Amino acid sequence: MQVFHHIRSMREALAAARREGKRIGLVPTMGNLHDAHIALVHQAQSTCDCVVVSVFVNRLQFGLNEDWDKYPRTLPEDTAKLEAAGCDFLFCPEETEMYPNGMDGQTRVVVPTMTDILCGASRPGHFEGVTTVVAKFFNIVEPDEAVFGIKDFQQLAVIRRMVEDLCLPVQITAGSIVRADDGLALSSRNSFLDEDERPRANQLYRSLRWVEDQVTDGRRDYLTLAKEAAEQIEAGGFKVDYVSIRHSRTLMPAADDDREITILGAMYTRGARLIDNVSMQVPARTPEE
Ligand code: PAJ
Repeated sequence: MQVFHHIRSMREALAAARREGKRIGLVPTMGNLHDAHIALVHQAQSTCDCVVVSVFVNRLQFGLNEDWDKYPRTLPEDTAKLEAAGCDFLFCPEETEMYPNGMDGQTRVVVPTMTDILCGASRPGHFEGVTTVVAKFFNIVEPDEAVFGIKDFQQLAVIRRMVEDLCLPVQITAGSIVRADDGLALSSRNSFLDEDERPRANQLYRSLRWVEDQVTDGRRDYLTLAKEAAEQIEAGGFKVDYVSIRHSRTLMPAADDDREITILGAMYTRGARLIDNVSMQVPARTPEE
């Protein structure tokens, strides 16, 4: 695996790969890689000849009182994992390489829909930071395909929208959520969970799955269902940010007759904010219902 810290050398290596007719795949990450990131790398390898992973803890997408400074940075371990996974190129630029003019005056990419709800409501400016850095990575790498995890459901929807709105020539593919044995979605932020919280941290997932079961059983009172799930999470000892049932594509509040819905949630533990989601097909009602 070749490691690049600079845009120029990264581009040169990619130009050579492209001349050889290689299909280029990109997996953007903030590092502290775990099995879910590696699964995205393998997914990219299944359709691409040359896979680039970016590792960059993007300050632009963190709020001022968020965890940018304590976000785990483990580049040596990340490099070893990517090497073992057979990744071709690692791109890990310094902040001055990505934001040479500083961040305040940085030109931004703004997706005006879907970004001030759910995670965007409690993290103002977050998605603007994500779309800006992802657009920059797309311009640097010019991938044929880029792979994002469904764990960050709203992020994936926003990136798809950016690609569509800006006619970016990249195919976006989605990787399924990778979970620990007890259902907790893998996340770099799980390392912030203390010993007492970790065994209970799958509460978010259990409550989202409970909503799924209720919908399967015929309930469509989505606002009440979301409220009940939030109460379960609070009873489990966590502070709820939101639980919400949405149309899977538009992220609008789910309507009675929506067939594709996603149950999304975010909760605070003592050391971290965790997110998760469950997508489902709503069974059609029988005529007598
Ligand atoms: P990061 O949190 O490092 O995640 C990188 C990619 O891994 C994202 O596409 C995310 O959805 C995916 N991922 C993380 N945990 C996952 C899990 N348990 N199952 C499936 N996929 C998972 O998301 C970001 O970084 C940043 O916002 C980024 C897109 C890199 C822009 O800075």
